[in-house]
Amino acid sequence: MDINWVRAQFPVFNQDPEMVFMDNAGGSQTVGHAITAISEYLTHYDVQLGASYSTSAQAAKILQQATQAVQTYLNAAHIDEVIVGASSTSLVRILCLSLAQGWQAGDEVIVTDVDHECNRAAWFELEKQGIVVKTWQVNPQTYELETDALLDLMTNSTKLVCFTHVSNILGSINPIEQWTQLIHQHGAQVCVDGVAYAPHRLIDVQAWDVDYYYFSTYKTFGPHQGVMYGKRDLLNQLPGFNHAFIKTSPYKFQPGNVNYELCYAMGAVVQYLCDLGAGKREAEINRYHLKNAYHQIAQYEAELINPLIKYLHQHPAINIIGINQSTAEKRVATLSFVHKNIDSKTIVEHVDPYQIGIRFGDFYAVELINHLGLREKQGVVRVSLAHYNTADEVEKLIKSLKVLFL
Ligand SMILES: Cc1ncc(COP(=O)(O)O)c(C=O)c1O
Repeated sequence: MDINWVRAQFPVFNQDPEMVFMDNAGGSQTVGHAITAISEYLTHYDVQLGASYSTSAQAAKILQQATQAVQTYLNAAHIDEVIVGASSTSLVRILCLSLAQGWQAGDEVIVTDVDHECNRAAWFELEKQGIVVKTWQVNPQTYELETDALLDLMTNSTKLVCFTHVSNILGSINPIEQWTQLIHQHGAQVCVDGVAYAPHRLIDVQAWDVDYYYFSTYKTFGPHQGVMYGKRDLLNQLPGFNHAFIKTSPYKFQPGNVNYELCYAMGAVVQYLCDLGAGKREAEINRYHLKNAYHQIAQYEAELINPLIKYLHQHPAINIIGINQSTAEKRVATLSFVHKNIDSKTIVEHVDPYQIGIRFGDFYAVELINHLGLREKQGVVRVSLAHYNTADEVEKLIKSLKVLFL
């Protein structure tokens, strides 16, 4: 991967060359293509869609192209399977309210204690209508969600299993395809959080056969919104969450207008990724280029995080919260740790003056931090790298940590 080319695509690195951004799982930098797209849309196409005059028709056309780009990115079979919303959290709420209308008291949903509250809190709300919500607990020794533990929870009443593809704290990649197959065999559906996965590996909803899958575009080099995939057959059966006369997907899951300029910008993010994969500007938007881009990202990030994992792993006072390998198959470049004697807040505040943006806390994975007993440590220190970070930046972080850890 040509890191100089990559960094040149992100205007922030020209504006603020000294700042090191390592809180990317919180929010990534926005690629220049997407920033330009927002301005372009608002300058030239800022009209209501669906009218017969030329600007409205043109706006509809470019938005359709941007949504097709996102469809390609997800590998969704149909464009009406792509739903956009203000955030992942709001999309999960809408899905939850839609699904629950078809469920009875006594029906069951399984959530994990690893997930961000986004894929938990909405489902727990359903307890008020008699839905049973069960928790699939992480093994605190291995940091893994074990398949046997899931099987123990599943019954004939299980309607849905909600799990994360990658935990925003642990960083390890869960076997989505295997779990989805197993859950389908038991007659249930899956709702998968891809927020911490999408910036690092390519989504393929058809290969995994997932029912619902979502990610946040502001953590994937774009603007603040969320995207949810749902299987067409399933979406068609759901009542939706919009005016009663709006009966088709995605509109029935998108109450009010969506942010057109941000939807347009998401197409520009996909364009950037295809350009990266093709090694040239304005490359064709296709899966081949996307696969190539993410292959480069995966290899680059695995090497990038390796020295940090090595340093933290060999330090006797540090405990990595998650697997301590950097192989691209097993984990993404999101790494959390705690120190035996220094709380996580103190560590982050020590690093702040070095102009390195890292962070401490529970990152809304509240139950994971509770279950692992890390609350009194002020949660974990999380370093979340993206493909635009450099080896020098990682070295700078390690040096700053050494000052504190000795
Ligand atoms: C893993 C994960 N899931 C879901 C979310 C929620 O995303 P949004 O802000 O788009 O609702 C976050 C945000 O931090 C996250 O890290």
